[in-house]
Amino acid sequence: MPLKNVFQIMSSNVDSVGVRKSAQEHIKTLGYRFIARLGEGTFSKVYLTEYTHKDASTSEKLACKLIDTAACSPKFKKKFLPRELAILLRIRHPHIIRVQAMMKCHSKIFIFMRYAEMGDLLTFILAHGPIGENQTRIWGRHMALALQYLHELGIAHRDLKCENILITSNFNVKLSDFGFARHIMKDGAAELSSTYCGSFDYAAPEILKGQPYDARASDMWAYGVLLYVMLNKSMPFKGRTKVVYEAQMDRKWQFRSRVRHKLSSQVKLLVGNLLEPNPIIRYTVEETLAYGWYTENPKMRALRPDELHALTEARGCTTDSRDVLQVKSKLRVSGSDVITTIKAVDETDGGRHGSSLSVKTSTIELIQDASSDVIADRK
Ligand SMILES: Nc1ncnc2c1ncn2[C@@H]1O[C@H](COP(=O)(O)OP(=O)(O)O)[C@@H](O)[C@H]1O
Ligand SMILES: [Mg+2]
Repeated sequence: MPLKNVFQIMSSNVDSVGVRKSAQEHIKTLGYRFIARLGEGTFSKVYLTEYTHKDASTSEKLACKLIDTAACSPKFKKKFLPRELAILLRIRHPHIIRVQAMMKCHSKIFIFMRYAEMGDLLTFILAHGPIGENQTRIWGRHMALALQYLHELGIAHRDLKCENILITSNFNVKLSDFGFARHIMKDGAAELSSTYCGSFDYAAPEILKGQPYDARASDMWAYGVLLYVMLNKSMPFKGRTKVVYEAQMDRKWQFRSRVRHKLSSQVKLLVGNLLEPNPIIRYTVEETLAYGWYTENPKMRALRPDELHALTEARGCTTDSRDVLQVKSKLRVSGSDVITTIKAVDETDGGRHGSSLSVKTSTIELIQDASSDVIADRK
């Protein structure tokens, strides 16, 4: 179906919990039907929906992330949400979940995206066990390409973990959940982050220590944990913050005995270079992708045309936080009760992606500028 990134305002009487009938009815008039709940996070619920095209000739299943701004913390609403929306409008990559539409219905924001039929990677590993080295290489490379694309755009994900990696029916992985992502470039240089965010299990030592950190380097730590989890079906570090921090700094972790003998020394070295306590010498995404474990197979060295296209676009248009400011200014303007579609640059899949914001008109109220960057989490 044609790609549409749209913001819409709909008149509706909805409360702060779930999708009430009134909201569903409004969504229904646009061709969306809610079928079942897929997942739940701190401020969101994710539903399986079905979208029927206007001419009713075809329909497709989509996932819908529903965020109720009335039930969110003010900091989430002012700071993380505008970032998430601005970044989702900007990015387009074969290994990142594709957003099809965004709408607002009073306090609720609906993000419609590609439905990943096989669910998230954590659920998959819990059901099927460790992934095995060959499959980890394939999925790990796709995730590294997604990270490379983001880092080229000057964006750090900051919440890389198995729950945020989705698997399609073709067994392709897609990075998702940009709730903690942010632009890190300012005046051509990377800004350090000072917000403690992401999941404790995937947090780099510099984050646990509470130091300002380079979010790209801490993404790479989380990526190392991710590879470890895929190969071991367990976490490399366990315990309280102090215990974990000391184990991270002393490199006190090991592959589980049941997989250790099966794994190549190359993959073990790669994970070791990612779980490097010093962020300055930790492997970057470029070093990771150039590493022998990924490049020894000539097929894995070459980029597919769609991967190359996305990377080339990213290299041509490093972004910065002005994107978020633009979205915030659009979010601040009051809307009317009339259904309004604010379009989108990319009406079709052949359109131009990733180099300009898709929102054209101001639409969403309630959201104001963030002030401080120092908060503990999204709450
Ligand atoms: N596109 C999707 N297809 C299938 N399941 C999804 C999709 N998006 C999210 N989910 C499920 O919902 C969960 C929460 O979604 P996520 O976007 O990570 O929200 P949160 O920011 O609340 O963590 C995911 O871990 C996954 O299990
Ligand atoms: Mg999530």
